[in-house]
Amino acid sequence: MIEYFDNLAPNYFDKNYVNIGREYPVLYFRHKYILTMLDDQTSGRAIDLGCGSGAMLVDLFKRGYEVLGADISSQMIASAKAFFGKSTRQRCPLFVADIEHLPFADNSFDLIVCAGLIEYLEEDEDALREIARVLSADGEAFISVTNILTPFWIFLAVLMLSGVWRRFRLLQGFKQYPRKVRLHFPRVLRSKLSRLGLVMVNEAYFHFSPLPFPLNQWFADFSTRVGIRMEVLSKTPMGFLGRGYILKVAKRLAC
Ligand SMILES: C[S@@+](CC[C@H](N)C(=O)[O-])C[C@H]1O[C@@H](n2cnc3c(N)ncnc32)[C@H](O)[C@@H]1O
Repeated sequence: MIEYFDNLAPNYFDKNYVNIGREYPVLYFRHKYILTMLDDQTSGRAIDLGCGSGAMLVDLFKRGYEVLGADISSQMIASAKAFFGKSTRQRCPLFVADIEHLPFADNSFDLIVCAGLIEYLEEDEDALREIARVLSADGEAFISVTNILTPFWIFLAVLMLSGVWRRFRLLQGFKQYPRKVRLHFPRVLRSKLSRLGLVMVNEAYFHFSPLPFPLNQWFADFSTRVGIRMEVLSKTPMGFLGRGYILKVAKRLAC
């Protein structure tokens, strides 16, 4: 996993935030929704766990937060360092660290962002416990995962269950999808966090598609164009159609 992200690091920011081309701008939407769900209060200590190439660090800094970043990939940390310096003329404390064993004291941060990371872990528990531990009392955290409940996966599930999938993929030369990413039930994520004293204050879905996988790849332009229009569903009861899920939680200590 580290090697996978190390290899992505040199082009990660450009590919996902700048030269998006005809691909769905997934990270752009995730980033934008997190920023729009931030409180008006824009001071305090914030950390981006799995900060990648540092896009969120720069925007949180510009909003007035004292920011830190952590990522298990040293190459991502190197890109984040360069990007932060270029964008702000400042330095940001950056740590090569594993979210499951964070080198920070309890209650260290007023804001935690953890976008697109925990689905790459073997399981959620250690990472969520660490988030709850380092978040200050009354602090807030954003966690994003890939939603299992969207009908987008239905056709894939049928193909997998019927055993056709393996041959089908080889024949059609589809890119391997999903890459080793765990899918989450939003409700299960919410209840795991609530057991750790982190309660939901807001949520949003993103990354929509009018077609299930793999049809979205055959009709990629159509799927992307319509999917982007479907982003208006993000915060409606139809939001569950989205493949991406962002949960905002606040720490509430038991009385
Ligand atoms: C999909 S990228 C998301 C990057 C960034 N959050 C963004 O939205 O642009 C996931 C990031 O998590 C990092 N990561 C993966 N496993 C990790 C772990 N156990 N601890 C810390 N970071 C990890 C990867 O190196 C990668 O930079």
